[in-house]
Amino acid sequence: MKATAVAPANIAFIKYWGKKDAEQRLAYNDSISMNLSACLTTVTVDFSEKYRQDEVDLKLAESRVVEHLERIRRRAKKRLFARVASRTNFPIAAGIASSASFFAALSLAASQAIGLNLPEKTLSEIARLGSGSACRSIPDGFVKWQGTAARSLYKEDYWDLRDIVIIVSSKIKKDGSSSGMAGVLTSPLFPARLKNLPSRLARLEKALQQKNFPSFGEIIEAEALELHQVMMTQKPPFFYLQPKTWEIINRVFEWRHLGLPVYFTIDAGPNPHLIIEGKNSVRLQQQLKSLKDIEGIIDNQPAKGARLSEKHLF
Ligand code: PMV
Repeated sequence: MKATAVAPANIAFIKYWGKKDAEQRLAYNDSISMNLSACLTTVTVDFSEKYRQDEVDLKLAESRVVEHLERIRRRAKKRLFARVASRTNFPIAAGIASSASFFAALSLAASQAIGLNLPEKTLSEIARLGSGSACRSIPDGFVKWQGTAARSLYKEDYWDLRDIVIIVSSKIKKDGSSSGMAGVLTSPLFPARLKNLPSRLARLEKALQQKNFPSFGEIIEAEALELHQVMMTQKPPFFYLQPKTWEIINRVFEWRHLGLPVYFTIDAGPNPHLIIEGKNSVRLQQQLKSLKDIEGIIDNQPAKGARLSEKHLF
């Protein structure tokens, strides 16, 4: 009863920040994201009578993993413990949605290992209970989370967008997004955000449909900046951006001024995601050579969602 799954992290263009139902991890607003081809987590799960308790190789979130296994056991009506091993190929807990790729891969691997063959919507719902944004790492390509589950708007080959993540710090962040978003209602900016989001979502979906990159880029930048203003005006405030993050944001404005169509978005972490069309990415790579004191660059294309793999980790 062993299965392995691989799932991508995703970058949200319209972001989820705030739960209207914390236990069910239901968001105040819909969100839209793209799966990242170079930010992957692999999870192997083995359910067997030989285990006396769940054996999880992850110290950081062991109790959340056990809770998640419990959800899957209840659904399968089986009382078996599991061994879980995982491998992530990018910095974890640094605002690149490693919990999204992890819980998406765990949901698929554990449900298969225990003998459940679940439809995509159910898998997305289960992944959401592990980590909200994980529901968006189940379907392929460009994804919308609405209500209880996420679905694919367009497959990964629809639009050759790149997400070039600039790692300014791979240190594990002090404040996880769950504790960060718990105080969202204390920001005086949040009601205005919620009121305006439906029209921003509609405009982003239209820009996606028309592959209108300048419009798409303006929307995602406004969205990221607004989200960080909400975070910074919460009580207590949350600051994820570092001086280096601002430096890169200013460089993006400069590059754009010089005629390179590149935009940014940022998650709950200091690492900017530079969004550009594939046809212009070589020009951006040239510019990136001049960046000093960064830890690395991850070059992503749109990717498939969670999938099974034959390559078990143990
Ligand atoms: O998946 P969670 O519950 O840790 O939330 C993460 C939310 C953000 O990454 C900050 C934004 C998003 O929509 O991905």
